[in-house]
Amino acid sequence: MEQTFIMIKPDGVQRGLVGEIISRFEKKGFHLKGLKLINVERSFAEKHYADLSAKPFFNGLVEYIISGPVVAMIWEGKNVVTTGRKIIGATNPADSAPGTIRGDFAIDIGRNVIHGSDSVESARKEIALWFPECPVNWLSSLR
Ligand code: CMP
Repeated sequence: MEQTFIMIKPDGVQRGLVGEIISRFEKKGFHLKGLKLINVERSFAEKHYADLSAKPFFNGLVEYIISGPVVAMIWEGKNVVTTGRKIIGATNPADSAPGTIRGDFAIDIGRNVIHGSDSVESARKEIALWFPECPVNWLSSLR
């Protein structure tokens, strides 16, 4: 079954949006397979966003992600990568539709509350990075 990696960013945790966000994924019908509240090191945040290292906003993005605890999660279900991105909304909250998480709770692209894997391949890599203690086969067998 398909899995995706979802991270509630420091602003989402600080603003008390964890329950609301989990609820939206649960009500849609997806299954929560892993969850942890953690503070990540700078080098770990740089690894997670390595594909963006040449972007002018990279340093600010890393500072943001290490500014407070994040909630890292694995969600599972049919088409969860694509549908999860729809639940989250467009990267820039200025373009996110009302009813999406970013559309309802964010204004600034640099404080956009949540991250979701953009492909099945990214999900596989991100789950392996954030949940090294959980073999994928073991996670898929949980129900
Ligand atoms: P995320 O879904 O975590 O994927 C990459 C992140 O980079 C994105 O959400 C934003 O938080 C951030 N990002 C993308 N574009 C910009 C930008 N122009 N300025 C600041 N941050 C950005």
